[in-house]
Amino acid sequence: MVASRRFFVIGNWKMNVDTATINNIIDTMTDASLDPHTEVVVGCPSCYLSYARQQLPSRIGVAAQNCYKVDRGNFSGEISPAMIKDCGCEWVILGHPERRTIFSESDDLIHQKVTHALDAGMKVVACVVETQKDKQTGCTEETLFAQLKALAAAITDWSRVVLAFEALWASGTGVLATPAEVQEVLAKLRQWLRQNVSNTVANTTRIIYAGSVSSTNCQELATLKDLDGFLVGSAALKPDIVHIINARTTHVSRLASYFNSLRTDDRSA
Ligand code: PGA
Repeated sequence: MVASRRFFVIGNWKMNVDTATINNIIDTMTDASLDPHTEVVVGCPSCYLSYARQQLPSRIGVAAQNCYKVDRGNFSGEISPAMIKDCGCEWVILGHPERRTIFSESDDLIHQKVTHALDAGMKVVACVVETQKDKQTGCTEETLFAQLKALAAAITDWSRVVLAFEALWASGTGVLATPAEVQEVLAKLRQWLRQNVSNTVANTTRIIYAGSVSSTNCQELATLKDLDGFLVGSAALKPDIVHIINARTTHVSRLASYFNSLRTDDRSA
């Protein structure tokens, strides 16, 4: 990670919360000491956007989990960036793996949504996904680059975009991606940005990882060279989210105490 890329953790509540659970999660997050160097956002169901925004401190951002590609109109069931902003929220997750796979959202639709959300002034967590099939058939690079190409063509302001890579085969399956597997993909995505967008965008865009991130694996993943944070699903509903937000702090403070102990050893030798 270079200094200009602030560590970013988004806890995506998906369709797993109600007012009582939201209150619990907010209490856990506000009672804890959160690393001030981490940018923290929660992904909230649309019906609770205003509520979550009102209850959370301003340093925690609130994201919608999806939005449509125009401001208003006869699109029953959809919400627009204008509505999300009207609820006081500035982030939206687009191209989430569940939107792509369960709701068959195409690269083209996601491209249009990203274009409109950015035009409307929003910040976007734009997702690319590797499925089990991609992994098994060796199509990972091809699939991810096609998704990234469609996203990149929509992005006019990279400073308002966080790129999320999800290993869907590692989400809730009991199979975890190894740090080496995660680093390999993140490095390829960054290299793609370098070759197809610009050096600056490759150096400054935050690329985060999703796929069963937990309090157990976050610290090791947080040390990866090309990783700038996490998109967290199931662990975002539990106190684990605090450890994940603090993954870098804990790592840095452990390193500091290790080096301090070496110095103490030197002095006493
Ligand atoms: P997970 O979900 O952490 O439960 O794997 C991540 C996501 O899909 O947002």
